Formats: sequence, structure tokens, C-alpha cells
Amino acid sequence: MKVLVLGAGNMGLTYAEGMAASPFLNKRKLMLFDVSAEKLELLEEMGQFDVYDTIDDCVPKADIIFIAVKPYHADELFENIKPFVNPDQIFVSLMAGVTIESIQNGLGINKVVRTMPNLPAKVGKGVTSFTESKEVSRVELLMVRNLLDTTGESIHVEDENFIDKSTGISGSGPAYIFYFMQSMMEAALKMGFSKNDSRVLVSQTFEGAVKLFNESDLSPQTWMDRVASKGGTTQAALDSMEDNNVKELIKEAAYAAFDRATELGQEA
Ligand SMILES: NC(=O)c1ccc[n+]([C@@H]2O[C@H](COP(=O)([O-])OP(=O)(O)OC[C@H]3O[C@@H](n4cnc5c(N)ncnc54)[C@H](OP(=O)(O)O)[C@@H]3O)[C@@H](O)[C@H]2O)c1
Repeated sequence: MKVLVLGAGNMGLTYAEGMAASPFLNKRKLMLFDVSAEKLELLEEMGQFDVYDTIDDCVPKADIIFIAVKPYHADELFENIKPFVNPDQIFVSLMAGVTIESIQNGLGINKVVRTMPNLPAKVGKGVTSFTESKEVSRVELLMVRNLLDTTGESIHVEDENFIDKSTGISGSGPAYIFYFMQSMMEAALKMGFSKNDSRVLVSQTFEGAVKLFNESDLSPQTWMDRVASKGGTTQAALDSMEDNNVKELIKEAAYAAFDRATELGQEA
């Protein structure tokens, strides 16, 4: 099986590194293409990948092609690679918003797996949701899933609407967590902690809470109830968040990302 990644940016390179380190490529080097000569030179030096600077050299050789360019570069990319694709190839899109139909039409092919990755894939803790066009067989889908799982976990969703929905939860989600972390660090700094101590207090709190959550089946609400005692400090903080409607605002933010993903699909 030969795998090609188009676009060696944040996501493309993250997936490339995960897949290259896995046993699924049968010791073959993963192929990588990008438009940036500077980036290609660096990747070439790493020696980990089969790096290409021309499309016609790599696209025809691939069985599975990951598309990891920004959505606004999709049309240009489709135009460039269309002459070299064939109907047996499977196209795995990491692009937010770009629909399966527009990829099929743009490339004149049928087999498409559309995904929504997230940034923790960089540390093997990603979650990728994915769905496929009807022309992708079960075996092909399993092959793609194995590749996606090299960066963390994956969930299969029945239709594309859930890809846009997962953009609002997991795709954009790491930024919501960073937003929360930033707010808590700002509060710690304001209270007089040093920058370093603020960082340690916040990062350990997040890591510890997630570990507790993952090690049981308890809901976040149950954990909140366990931490907060009536009339205590935690309850004062939770009451303040409830009074300020924070939960509803977070839900609204997730829907804003979902709506934007749908819009991006319509613009593409
Ligand atoms: N980053 C995230 O957290 C995240 C989360 C979910 C989904 N995604 C999706 O992942 C995709 C990639 O995002 P990213 O953050 O990795 O973007 P990125 O860092 O900008 O990487 C894209 C790479 O593709 C290159 N490129 C542009 N046009 C190309 C072309 N025609 N052929 C080949 N390569 C081309 C870019 O080069 P230049 O820099 O020279 O343009 C860049 O190196 C996006 O579609 C995004 O929606 C990202």
C-alpha cells in the first residue's frame, strides 16, 4: 500500500509522522508533496519521507491520498492533480467543510473518505471523525481507519453533517480548552503567582481532571458534585459561572464552529 500526503503543514505532517511510524506501510516510505520548496528541503533532510516537488511523479503511484491543504486551496489542488488520478485511488480529506461531492466533482473520482481531525494528533492523542462515499468498500475503509488511528482514536459517523458537527466539538475544541486555560492563567497571574507557577497550576489541574474523568464512567456533573461542597469555594465558582451563563455560551461557541464549517462547505 502506497500512501501520499498532499500538503505538509500542521495536519498533513502530523498524520504523515503518525502513519510513517506505524507498521501499515510495510516499511515503504510515505510520500509527501507540498508547494513550498523550503519545506520540502527540510523534509528531505529529515530522511523520513519520500518527498516530491512535482505532482505527476507521486500522484499516479499512490493507493491512498491524504488531502491536507487549507479549504481555500482545494480548487487549485484539484485542478493540478486531476490529470493524474485514477478511480481506484482512495482520497482521504482532512479539509474542514469541503464536501465529499465537491471532492468527487473536483477530481472526477468516486472513492472519498472525509474526516475531521484535531490538533492533539500531534502527540498521538487526536480524535478523528470520518465518513465515506458509498464507493469505498469495507476493507478500504478499515485500511483508512488503521491509518487514522496512528494519531489517536477515530469515530465513524453515518453522514457528513456529523463531520461538520464534530468540527464544532473536537476539530475546533482544543482551542476552547486553551481559551479556558488562558483565562485561568490570567486569573492566577492577577492573584500574584509567577508566570511559571501559573502555568504549572493550570496545566496540572487540566491534566489531573482529564485523567480522573478517563479513569471512571462518572459524568463531568458527578465530578463537579464531588469537588463542590455546599457553601464552599468551588460552589462559589460554579455558581458564578452559572449566573454568567457560561455553559450556554460554550454551547453557542460550538454551534458557531459547526455553522462556519457548513458555510465553508457551501463556499467551496
Ligand atoms: N490545524 C488544525 O487544528 C485543523 C483541525 C481540523 C482540520 N484541519 C484541516 O486540515 C487542513 C490543513 O490545515 P493545516 O492547519 O495543516 O494547514 P497548513 O499548516 O497551512 O498546511 C497546509 C500545507 O499545504 C500547502 N499547500 C497549499 N497549497 C497546496 C497545493 N496546491 N498542493 C500542495 N500543498 C499545498 C501549504 O503551503 P503554503 O503554506 O505555502 O500555503 C501548507 O504547507 C485544512 O483543510 C484544515 O481545515 C486543521
